[in-house]
Amino acid sequence: MEYIKVIGEGPLLGSVDIQGSKNAVLPALAATILNEGETVLHNCPDISDVKITLDILKFLGCKIKKENHTIIVDAKNIVNNYIPTELMTKMRSSIIFLGAIIARTKEASMCFPGGCELGPRPIDLHIKALKALGVDVTEGNGYIKCKLDNYKDAQVHLDFPSVGATENIMLFGALSDCVISIENAAREPEIEDLQNFLNGMGAKISGAGSSSIRINGVKKLHDFEHTIIPDRIAAATYLCGGVITGGCVEVKKVNPNHFGAVTSVLRECGQYVEEGKDYVCVKANNKIKSIDLIRTLPHPGFPTDAQSGILSVLSVANGTSIIKENIFQQRFKIADELIKMGADINTDGQVAVVKGVKKLYASPVYASDLRSGAALVVAALCAEGETKVFNTHFIDRGYENLHINLKNLGANIERVKE
Ligand code: EPZ
Repeated sequence: MEYIKVIGEGPLLGSVDIQGSKNAVLPALAATILNEGETVLHNCPDISDVKITLDILKFLGCKIKKENHTIIVDAKNIVNNYIPTELMTKMRSSIIFLGAIIARTKEASMCFPGGCELGPRPIDLHIKALKALGVDVTEGNGYIKCKLDNYKDAQVHLDFPSVGATENIMLFGALSDCVISIENAAREPEIEDLQNFLNGMGAKISGAGSSSIRINGVKKLHDFEHTIIPDRIAAATYLCGGVITGGCVEVKKVNPNHFGAVTSVLRECGQYVEEGKDYVCVKANNKIKSIDLIRTLPHPGFPTDAQSGILSVLSVANGTSIIKENIFQQRFKIADELIKMGADINTDGQVAVVKGVKKLYASPVYASDLRSGAALVVAALCAEGETKVFNTHFIDRGYENLHINLKNLGANIERVKE
């Protein structure tokens, strides 16, 4: 059994270089199979979701070289057009390979990704979009099989600005013989990064970052080197650690524009936040103000992935805060764990009422997804006593060296293998 042990002591002080973005590198790795050559990605985070994605690329026929945070993918020979169930079930976001495999091989099959700790993770928007683009999609026995006979120009209007569905359409359309426009597209920075990477390979895509994206398919893409954007959610996590311990934390190698909604909430909590060209620094003051209402929304609204970290911070704020979770059905699983630490949180469906308490206390707590795991570590930083955070495998999915970075900021933290 492995756990992260934290003894809540003084303030975090110092700076941390932020890792590459998990949610940018995964679609970018899927995109590498669109180039029948060698593609290089720099600033890839060393996390387990990347390891699983590399296993999928190898299964498809790619040759992989990894040198520190650089990954080189040789996709000259693609020998499979399906993802085996054991790999699919290890990482539900492998659905992001669907569009790219069809674009390269004109066929694709994989099992349904199924739900996860955050609740059901349907893919109806992905399927609806691919059907509109002329893909023949059959579903049955938990499997989805796709076959492309003829491309169709299409305008795809997403019922919800789904990040994954937007990315799948971009990956499908980049290497195609059709013109696609996506309306109500997701606007996350990771979508812009994918557009920049695909265009670097020779694609003709415009509009990423807005809700209308246009794709003029091309017949061939070419080798390219790309640097993955920083992880805005990891940055938010460390800033929350600074705030909850009354410290001073600077996150470096970031793009502050990628998480303006988070820094704005930290200011609303009464914290001093300084933003530079490639850094954000929070100088906390010990009185954390409560916030009347935070709603999670698609970008540029407050990101659902940063919600757990803010929930930990508001657990020790002065006053009562309300959080409305609009993206996932089960993002509040962490509340039960924080309550074990002395938090006063009432959840009812998508709403959490957080009455700030003076202090949190150590308790054995269990991560239920990667963001709740990191948020429990954040809470433990200010809790009295020795907290043990279990299910560290969730944290490893998206955070590179979380405990080492926090230790370097002065936390009394270690990873223990029992
Ligand atoms: C991406 O997930 C991220 N994952 C998530 O980060 C992030 O929370 C989410 O976008 C929202 O920003 C990756 O990029 C790998 P969605 P994705 O499709 O693409 C519903 C993390 O912690 N929906 O935008 O799966 C869905 O159920 C992870 O880093 C449909 O109903 O998110 C959800 O309620 C967690 N039908 C909402 O839309 C569909 O076909 C948002 O989903 C697709 C989605």
